Amino acid sequence: MGEAALKKSEPARLVVALGERSYDIVVGERILGKAGQYILPLIRGKKVLIVCDETVAKLYLHRLTNALEEAQIRSRSILVKPGEGSKSMASFGELMEALLAEKPDRKTTLIALGGGVIGDLTGFAASVLLRGVEFIQIPTTLLSQVDSSVGGKTGINSRWGKNLIGSFHQPRLVLADVATLATLPKRELLSGYAEVLKYGLINDTAFFGWLEQHGAGLIGGDTALMTEAILRSCAAKAAIVGEDEKESGVRALLNLGHTFGHALEAETGYGDALLHGEAVAIGMVLALKMSVVMGLCPQADMDRVIAHYKTVGLAFCPKSIRKDWNVDALMEHFTRDKKAEGGKLTFILLRGIGKAFITQEVNVETLRDMLAKAVGA
Ligand code: NAD
Ligand code: GLY
Repeated sequence: MGEAALKKSEPARLVVALGERSYDIVVGERILGKAGQYILPLIRGKKVLIVCDETVAKLYLHRLTNALEEAQIRSRSILVKPGEGSKSMASFGELMEALLAEKPDRKTTLIALGGGVIGDLTGFAASVLLRGVEFIQIPTTLLSQVDSSVGGKTGINSRWGKNLIGSFHQPRLVLADVATLATLPKRELLSGYAEVLKYGLINDTAFFGWLEQHGAGLIGGDTALMTEAILRSCAAKAAIVGEDEKESGVRALLNLGHTFGHALEAETGYGDALLHGEAVAIGMVLALKMSVVMGLCPQADMDRVIAHYKTVGLAFCPKSIRKDWNVDALMEHFTRDKKAEGGKLTFILLRGIGKAFITQEVNVETLRDMLAKAVGA
C-alpha cells in the first residue's frame, strides 16, 4: 500500500506519495495566515491566481492575500458564485476567460480557496489552462479537507451526470486550516462528516468505533476532534491514492455510496435540496441495504450504522428528502456512472462495517426492487 508518512512537525504534515507528483497535506489551526511561507517554495513564478466563491471570499480571502503579500507573492482573485451550480460548463467557460484575461504563463499557479466545488473547478481549469499549470488546494469545508482536496480528481458536471467532464491533476500542496471550519454552517459540516464516516465503513472498523464515540463532539465543533478526524481521513485517502492514482482498482472503494448518491443528486438538480455529502450519506445506506438484501452483510451492521446516523443527525432515508423519486430515472443514472464498464454496473458493497469491496455481480432486478422499496416509489 502507498505510504502516507506522518512527519513529526507542527502543524501536522502528511505526504501523498506519488513519485515526482508527491505533495504534502498540511493540517493545522490558523495556518491560512501563514500560507505564504508554505506556498513560496513551491511556486515557479511570483504571481498566483486565486479562485474563490463569494461567501468564502468575504470570510477568508483577505487573510490569504495578506499572507501572500507578506511572502512577496503577487496575487489576483477571481470570484465565482457559491454552490454546486458553479461546476457547470457555463461557469467553467467564464472562469477560463477570466483566467486568460490575467495573462497567465506556464509558471502561473492557481490557488483554490474554498470547498469541493472550488477545488474541483479550479483543479480542472489548472489542468487545461495553457495545457496545464500547477495548483494548490486550500480547502475550507470539512468535506474538502477530508476528501476532495486530496487525490487530484478534478471536474465539472453536465446534464448527463456529475463529474463526467474532468481530469486527474494533482495539486502541489493541500493546506487545511481547521479554524476555517468555525464559520461553516452545521448542515455543511454534517455533509462533510458523511465522507469522514466513509473511511470507517470502507476499511477501518476501529475508526468507525472512534466516530461512534466522538462524532457528536466533532459535529459540535470540537477542533481537536476535527483535526484528528481530518488527519485520519487524509491518511486513509493518501494511502489509497498512493496505491492507485487513476482508479484502475482499489481507489474505486472511495466511491462507496457515490453511485447511489450521484443518481439522487442528479434527480434533485444539484442544489440545496440535497448536498453532495448528504447524497453520499444516503447512498452509503443504500449500499448497505443492497448488501443486506444480497445476504452479504449482517443486518446488525446496517442497524449499527443507522443508529450512528441518528446520533449525529444525518439523514439516512431517501424519503426524508422527497416522496416522489422516479426509480427508472435513478436506474438510468447508474448506467452513466463512470465505473460502469461495457454496460456492466459496478457497485461498492459491504460485507460489514470496514469491509467494503468492488463488485459487478449485482442483479439488476434485485437492485431495482431494493431501490423501489427504499425510495418508496
Ligand atoms: P461547496 O464547495 O459548495 O461548499 C459548501 C458551501 O459552504 C458553499 O456555499 C461555500 O460557499 C460555503 N463555505 C465554504 N467554506 C466555508 C467556510 N469556511 N465558512 C462558511 N462557509 C463556507 O461544497 P463541498 O461540500 O465543500 O464540496 C462538494 C463538492 O465536492 C461536490 O461538487 C463534489 O462532487 C466534490 N467532491 C469532489 C471530490 C474529489 O475527489 N475531487 C471528492 C468529494 C467531493
Ligand atoms: N472521492 C473519490 C476519490 O477521490 O477517488
